This record gives sequence, structure tokens and C-alpha cells, in this order.
Amino acid sequence: MSSQDRSMITLALSKGRIFDETMPLLKAAGLDVLENPEHSRKLILPTNRNNIRVVLVRASDVPTYVQYGGADLGVTGLDTLIEHGSEGLYQPLDLQIAKCRMSVAAHEAFDYASAVKQGSRLKIATKYINIAREFFARKGVHVDLVKLYGSMELAPLTGLADAIVDLVSTGNTLKANHLIEVEQIMPISSRLVINQAALKLKQPLIRELLDAFVVAVNERNSALNESAR
Ligand code: PRP
Repeated sequence: MSSQDRSMITLALSKGRIFDETMPLLKAAGLDVLENPEHSRKLILPTNRNNIRVVLVRASDVPTYVQYGGADLGVTGLDTLIEHGSEGLYQPLDLQIAKCRMSVAAHEAFDYASAVKQGSRLKIATKYINIAREFFARKGVHVDLVKLYGSMELAPLTGLADAIVDLVSTGNTLKANHLIEVEQIMPISSRLVINQAALKLKQPLIRELLDAFVVAVNERNSALNESAR
């Protein structure tokens, strides 16, 4: 069954933090995913609603699935969304989950501030080429960008780069590798993205789901505010 079937809604999620933090919101919206992706190799997971299913894709593929209609909607980090571009994607809701920040980090022995001040050309390793290019262009810092697909923290330790642009959450990975966060670029959280054509063709079902998500996010935020008092 393809997601072109008008009576079926397909939600794209990625395993790990996004899946785990989306689950309570789905539950609050009355949706239960019937299989645990950690215990199953299946890529299409049924829910308690026979017209809603979940597909598991790589985090960086969520915008592509939703953009081209392989899924009607999905949950993706703002980092992935910016890198991918948001053409054809309606972004109605910040779910405020999987929160972290995009930062510049350098080795503790590297004087980043002086290098920037002196107008040095910096070598930056990152998975987030577009975010890095835009950030340094706005600062007027000349950079050579080196594209990596993971373990960015290794680049300044091996001489591959002067600094990295990467996600920071607890800061533990930086600390363990003698790196220091020298600039914060932007806060990151996960967004709901919807295929614009699906929004029109499957309007009632998608609207119902979107409204339920909005209520779930508001209720979760109220509960968090309440417990913080
Ligand atoms: C992310 C990021 C950092 C780490 C930061 O990697 O790239 O390496 O988390 O988290 P911390 O500040 O809590 O230590 P992730 O584990 O998601 O894997 P990735 O390298 O595949 O992106």
C-alpha cells in the first residue's frame, strides 16, 4: 500500500531520540505504535489506528520522504531541515523535543577568538555544510569547509580541521575529546513537517492529527511549567 492511498496516513520517524521523544506525543494524541523498533527489523510499523502507520527512515531522509510523498508527514530536526531545504514541506509545529544546539567547537589549545580576530582562514569540518557556510559568511569569516558524515569531534584532534560545526546536547562528547564550545549558532529542536499536496488531498485526517499534536504539545508544556514551579 503506497502513501498515495488517500485513506492511509504515513508518518515518517527516525529511530532513537526522535522516535523515543515523539512516542509520548503520539500517545497523548491517541496513537499507539504497536511494535518497538528496537525489537523488530520491520520498517513499517502499524498503529492502533488502521488508517495510520509509521515508517522508519534515517533521520537525514525524513524531509526527502515527506517532500516526495513517500510519507505524508514526519518528524525531523531543524538541523536536518535546514540542510535539506524545505521546498514542498509545510512546517506547522515545533514539537520542542530532541532539544540541543548547533555550535562551533575547537580544541582547548586552539585560540579560536584570536584566529577570527586576525582574519585567519579557518578549516571547518562538519556534516552541516549549509548551516556552517551561512554562519561564517554572516560573520565575515573566511572558511574552507570539509564535509564529514559523523565523528566530527575527531577532526580538530587529527589536524583535519581547526574547528567543527556540530550538535551539542550535554556537552559530554566535546569534553571527552578536549574540545570547547566557542560559539553557539542556533537552538535546535524537532519539527513536524507535512507534505503540502497530502495536506490538501487528505485534509480531514491530517488536520485531525495536527490538531491532536498541537494539543499534546501544549499539554506537555503546561505540565512541564507546572512541575518547574
Ligand atoms: C551527536 C552530535 C555529537 C553528540 C553531542 O551525535 O553529533 O557528537 O551527539 O551530544 P552530547 O553533547 O550530549 O555529548 P550523535 O550521537 O547523535 O551521532 P551522529 O554523530 O551520528 O550525529
